[in-house]
Amino acid sequence: MPPGIYLDGNSLGVMPLSAHQAVLRRLGEWQTQAVSGWDEWFGLAETLSPALGKLMGAAPREVIATGSITANLHALLATLYRPQGERRHLLATALDFPTDVYAMQSWARLHGAELRLIPSRDGQTIHEDDLRLALGPDIALVLLPTVLYRSGQRFDIARLSAVVHQQGALVGWDAAHSIGAMPHDLHASGADFAVWCSYKYLNAGPGAPGGLFLHQRHHHLAPALSGWWGNEKETQFEMTTQFRPAPGAAAYQQGTPPVLALAALEGALEIFEDLDLHALRARSLQLTDTLIELADLHLPEMRVLTPRDHARRGGHVSLLHPEARALSAALRARGIIPDYRSPDILRLAPVALYNTEDELRETVRVLRGLLDSGSHREVDVSGAVS
Ligand SMILES: Cc1ncc(COP(=O)(O)O)c(C=O)c1O
Repeated sequence: MPPGIYLDGNSLGVMPLSAHQAVLRRLGEWQTQAVSGWDEWFGLAETLSPALGKLMGAAPREVIATGSITANLHALLATLYRPQGERRHLLATALDFPTDVYAMQSWARLHGAELRLIPSRDGQTIHEDDLRLALGPDIALVLLPTVLYRSGQRFDIARLSAVVHQQGALVGWDAAHSIGAMPHDLHASGADFAVWCSYKYLNAGPGAPGGLFLHQRHHHLAPALSGWWGNEKETQFEMTTQFRPAPGAAAYQQGTPPVLALAALEGALEIFEDLDLHALRARSLQLTDTLIELADLHLPEMRVLTPRDHARRGGHVSLLHPEARALSAALRARGIIPDYRSPDILRLAPVALYNTEDELRETVRVLRGLLDSGSHREVDVSGAVS
């Protein structure tokens, strides 16, 4: 663990020893085997699919470790978003992470369509009725977050996927804030696709390759943005001009994978191999319950934005305060690592794998002291990016 109290696993998880060891192992292969290392690295991403499938509740062929959320969204939208007649517009939420909105805007623009955003009634959460209201015969595809990155509101993937499908649209999910924090059942939920990153609760390190899920019912489609790494393995090195898509999600790979970064994911996934994801989720809820109780009791001037209902809560707790930025910086200066989201949210992620109740009590105690003394106002907040 880094020194101090680390509560930022929803932004960048800590480094598992198994990730460190896997990177060293792959570095060693590069050093001693050079190009011959490719015999081993060639199918590395595919070897991770069973572990990713377990995390996402999907068949190994429905998932692949590749790209970033942004790149994977573009690849999936290029293939699945097919505006036809009146059914041509895209739908997302007004509280989505910006990159999701930018990617959806790009595709709406390319097709001369609109990206509609489901409004938020309170600026922090999305009401499910507003999704129903926004759906209609002119919506072709909907992208939703499994958990909102600011407030931590969680959505029911199966229920809302069914709502979207009833209206005749496709639905995809951004699972950045749920993968590795709770179990998923993507295949059974009927969702058409999902994207995620691996640097948060999966602990695969800065810039680790993300991943995507494509439901089996879409595996007959050829990816619209093809590259040689999405070719079937058997014929990839025949180097012909004929693209033969790999089976399933693997066809959405494009170029040569970043092997050293993939190695960190390979090592990080070992932690989840024998883990009961329901137990992990139960522990996460225990920790966020404790944090919410402590905040209610000791920090009345910081409003808890995160839903209290377990079914509607992700893995982090967000506290609202006009001086959140200074409070975040002051906590960091005291060895407690939260993060801050503009303009007024302090996010604390007690991660089931490594945080404790004592750490939460200490964090709340320090926050109380800062609010009482006002000393956070003296901390320099310039230059920080989170
Ligand atoms: C919900 C969500 N989507 C997307 C991203 C970032 O996407 P990418 O991996 O393409 O940088 C983040 C990053 O924190 C996120 O929280």
